[in-house]
Amino acid sequence: MFTSFLTRNRVKCLVFHEISRRMMSNIFEAKICLLGDSGVGKSSLAARLVHNTFNNNNESTIGASFMTTSFLHLDTTFKLNIWDTAGQEMYRALAPMYYRQARVCIVVYDVTQQSTFRSLQSWVRELQTHLTDGVVIAIAANKTDLKDSRVVSEKDGREYAQSIGAVFMETSAKSAQNVRQLFVAIAAKLLTISAPKRTESTGIAVKETVEESRGKCC
Ligand code: GTP
Ligand code: MG
Repeated sequence: MFTSFLTRNRVKCLVFHEISRRMMSNIFEAKICLLGDSGVGKSSLAARLVHNTFNNNNESTIGASFMTTSFLHLDTTFKLNIWDTAGQEMYRALAPMYYRQARVCIVVYDVTQQSTFRSLQSWVRELQTHLTDGVVIAIAANKTDLKDSRVVSEKDGREYAQSIGAVFMETSAKSAQNVRQLFVAIAAKLLTISAPKRTESTGIAVKETVEESRGKCC
């Protein structure tokens, strides 16, 4: 009986500790935009991160889809507003509407399709022309589970990412390999380039995410 009393109190203590940790944590809200050719796995990566699911027959995105998720990294809760854009050519003109206000752009390519790696480079050139310095560019080399069909090496992807100062991660939405790690690496990068801003009323530090002068688009 005494043991169960101790166990109960230990559980209460742990729950209290976790709640306090979350209440004390900083909050960092960021808009993330997923870009890349149709079929590279943008929606699948988002579904893996947000719902921990994978669909072998995912339907192509129409326009764009939106979802939110949050996770704790170090002492900061990251609230991510994710815009998953459509990669089909007919929606190409809509992309700037989504990436223009983004704090993070994740460009995805498929390691089994060389053309998607070339396309990644043209996406990056476009982003570099239109975005400000504070925007984090991340590259996801997706479908690494398809080992026998790989045509883009990890070395090529990593070297390219390094040459433009982007976060790089080889991922598989199917096996879940490195999907969470990709977002943790992005979170770490955001922390290194953003100064915390302490709000007077709540005492909670909120890190600035999007320049206030930018207009709202979506
Ligand atoms: P659009 O919406 O047309 O721009 O495509 P998308 O980039 O969102 O691709 P989507 O996530 O719909 O995935 C396209 C196909 O690739 C689907 O059949 C997925 O099941 C498959 N797929 C996505 N990620 C992976 C992966 O990591 N490994 C494997 N083997 N298949 C994947
Ligand atoms: Mg999609």
